[in-house]
Amino acid sequence: MKNVLLIASEAVPFIKTGGLADVAGSLPKYFDKTKFDVRVMIPKYTCIPWEYREKMVYKTHFYIDLAWRTQYVGVFELEWNGVIFYFIDNEFYFGGNKPYSWIHEDIEKFAFFSKAALSALPVLGFRPDIIHCNDWQTGLIPVYLKERFSQGEFYQGIKSIMTIHNLKFQGIWDLKKVKDITGLPDEYFTSDKLEAYDDANYLKGGIVYADRVTTVSETYAEEIKTPFYGENLDGLMRARANVLSGIVNGIDYDEYNPETDKRIANNYNQITFRKEKWKNKVALQKELGLTEDKGKFMIGLVSRLTDQKGLDLVAYVMDQLCAEDVQFVILGTGEERYENMFRHYDWKYNDRVSANIYYSEDMSHKIYASCDAFLMPSLFEPCGLSQLMSLRYGTVPIVRETGGLKDTVEPYNEYEGKGTGFSFANYNAHEMLSIVNYAKDVYYNHKREWNKIVDRGMKTDFSWNSSARKYEDLYNSL
Ligand code: ADP
Ligand code: GLC
Repeated sequence: MKNVLLIASEAVPFIKTGGLADVAGSLPKYFDKTKFDVRVMIPKYTCIPWEYREKMVYKTHFYIDLAWRTQYVGVFELEWNGVIFYFIDNEFYFGGNKPYSWIHEDIEKFAFFSKAALSALPVLGFRPDIIHCNDWQTGLIPVYLKERFSQGEFYQGIKSIMTIHNLKFQGIWDLKKVKDITGLPDEYFTSDKLEAYDDANYLKGGIVYADRVTTVSETYAEEIKTPFYGENLDGLMRARANVLSGIVNGIDYDEYNPETDKRIANNYNQITFRKEKWKNKVALQKELGLTEDKGKFMIGLVSRLTDQKGLDLVAYVMDQLCAEDVQFVILGTGEERYENMFRHYDWKYNDRVSANIYYSEDMSHKIYASCDAFLMPSLFEPCGLSQLMSLRYGTVPIVRETGGLKDTVEPYNEYEGKGTGFSFANYNAHEMLSIVNYAKDVYYNHKREWNKIVDRGMKTDFSWNSSARKYEDLYNSL
């Protein structure tokens, strides 16, 4: 039996701002329970809905030193879908109405979390063989594990894995302040360790000190070794190439299942989608005040509204995208200029554009189930889960060929009758527009072909089944 503790800053169903939460909350369910005991640890944010917090069971508490202060650490536990979740409690750090705030606050918050997480292990009665860290918020864990906690017998031999979900976010802050906060001595702040470009860098620490480094698709694992995708750490990624690999994400096929989903108007499956899926579209048109027309080509976009997602391309050709024979439904929050851009077009083309500038799990499911196509023209995309959700719901993804999008969407080939979506290569608005128009043409003029694309998409398997096996192999190799 191998014990694994997966540590992250968010996990569904408790707290989610993006795909990391989907991964941390769903992957652990899919391990072979006779061989792996995988548990999860996240902060006990006060913004976790009360329905979950009230069920958490107090385990223990103790105190640690951080940034010249003594801090309370509470540990709570909750079993969810057969997986044990631990929650680190401290309302000074994890209060507030969202998990993240200003970077200087988050830097201290996650130094606390990392130290508290490791300190909690001996009192929990769970000694992991492997600690699986995720993104910069947990980057200090491999550092503390190797350099500090490795002196105690309990910690000896514990291995660590650093999974990069997004290299863009590294947890960078003033070197001197980070020294003070972390209590790590000077020698850790050199350019081969935590220092990068005169600042301290949490993710770099994790990448340097972890025994293995993974990212969430094979293509992204290659891309980040190049300057364009490397976010100034491409040299480090090349240096760590011997321990770096890509394992593509899956999604929770129980949660995202058009046949049983209670959030959508009308259930359907791979066989009935031709007769049933459109009813979701009409229900959504009604709900959002769009023209009710089951035959209208409806494009969906569910996303954090940031540059990563290729929204400047969308903004550039928005008028052409919103042609009369198209409906465009957007769900997302993020940068103000994109929020306002979508609001503007919602006003301008009221009958065919619907901008929903908020966060809603319910609405996201309705969009995945209702639309004909899903637009995701990312500038970079470590994996991307939205396109997998779209495939699952028979909504045809239109993507740029980058990172996980390239690994999961097979471009339609009309001559060979192959493909599950549409894609374009260059980061260029007109290239995107022409591929959208191509998709629209297939939808309107070659409906049988379109339905075959949907059919092939719904048949793909991006459940966790195959990727969980790859993580098992990785755990076993340590
Ligand atoms: P990222 O993690 O970069 O944001 P992913 O595609 O991996 O991108 O995951 C995004 C996840 O967040 C998906 O589950 C998507 O449905 C969800 N999501 C994004 N924005 C919203 C929103 N406004 N409302 C509901 N869900 C959203
Ligand atoms: C990040 C990436 C996204 C990925 C997700 C889960 O947020 O931006 O591409 O799917 O993490 O790994």
